[in-house]
Amino acid sequence: MKIETLKLIHFRNYEKLEVTFHPTLNLIYGKNGSGKTNLVEGIYVLALTRSFRLVGDKTLILDGKEACKVSGSVVNRSKSMFSVLISKDGKKVKVDNNSVAKISDYIAKIPIVLFHPDDLRFIKDTPSTRRKTLNISISLMNLEYLKVLNQYKVLLKQRNAYLKQMAINGRLTSDYLSVLTEKLVDTGMYLYQKRKKYLEDISKYLNEFYKRISTVDGLKLEYISDYSKRSRDEILEMYEKNLQKDLSFGKTNLGVHTDDLRFLLKEKDLKEYGSEGQQKNAIIAYKFSELELFKEKMGSYPLFILDDLFSELDEEKVTNILGLLSSQIQTFITTTDLKHFLTLDRFPYKSFLIDKGRIVEEKVHGR
Ligand SMILES: Nc1ncnc2c1ncn2[C@@H]1O[C@H](COP(=O)(O)OP(=O)(O)OP(=O)(O)O)[C@@H](O)[C@H]1O
Ligand SMILES: [Mg+2]
Repeated sequence: MKIETLKLIHFRNYEKLEVTFHPTLNLIYGKNGSGKTNLVEGIYVLALTRSFRLVGDKTLILDGKEACKVSGSVVNRSKSMFSVLISKDGKKVKVDNNSVAKISDYIAKIPIVLFHPDDLRFIKDTPSTRRKTLNISISLMNLEYLKVLNQYKVLLKQRNAYLKQMAINGRLTSDYLSVLTEKLVDTGMYLYQKRKKYLEDISKYLNEFYKRISTVDGLKLEYISDYSKRSRDEILEMYEKNLQKDLSFGKTNLGVHTDDLRFLLKEKDLKEYGSEGQQKNAIIAYKFSELELFKEKMGSYPLFILDDLFSELDEEKVTNILGLLSSQIQTFITTTDLKHFLTLDRFPYKSFLIDKGRIVEEKVHGR
């Protein structure tokens, strides 16, 4: 997967921008606030129709304008034109000039792996952040997963509403509740299996990458789920035992909607014991693992965006990470400081100097 050209109109601080990317590495550099993150955000919006920053779509539109448009040509086996138009009334997406009615039919077409400083939330934040990130990653490789996840969410809502109803009516048994519970368990078990498999697959790569970045051994992922090591019957029994609690809370207390995962470094939870740098390196190792897993399953690499990767990392880690970059993966790196790249000579790349929402200089380096 490679993106050849990107066009931004009225997007963030870009009035109009047309850019041709290099197939291997693209270095986007410039001062704070110049528009580096905005540019890679444009790529991300082209792929997933929304930002990775926790903001509404409207903030993507250049101040004072009514709409913004992101378009670009992407080559996988063949070449396609993608576009996303965001206006105050909503969003329209097109592939090769044909409208795509459902956003969910559009988003898996340009797979992308992104590192952004906020990604530390994947370790630091609540379980819900970790589940969301996991859901996106698995959905990119398996659309069935996304469908089942949505079914699960609907069933969970129905079950919770019905629990409240039962509590009001003072009832303790119901055939309808049993039906809902069984359906919830069946969809839940599917999600559990896929998450477990995904994290096992990631784990095949994770420690190796962590070792190469930090020169320290012993990073592991642990998946925590109520469904873990339980048969369908045991899970159903668990719901029965919990019924009284569910009724008094008016919600389903057990299930894959409470799943979580932990990063363990030498058996210690990185959330509680890890330094900022260790947490960051673990996330970066996780991202490199995602790239490899995607390639293994889908046959080609996703796009790779590293936004502000190098702040707060020592020189050795920076060198180690640069050593992991591959000419097979189209990579976009934003940085305020070009010094890290001056010795980069393994493959050719292109640099873009950004200033106030413009590219003021672009240059191809190497062969
Ligand atoms: N909708 C918008 N309309 C106009 N300008 C915007 C909009 N959204 C953000 N900006 C401007 O874009 C700039 C921020 O750009 P960006 O986040 O890409 O900076 P950056 O180059 O990544 O900086 P840093 O090095 O600090 O990460 C700010 O000056 C901000 O005011
Ligand atoms: Mg930035």
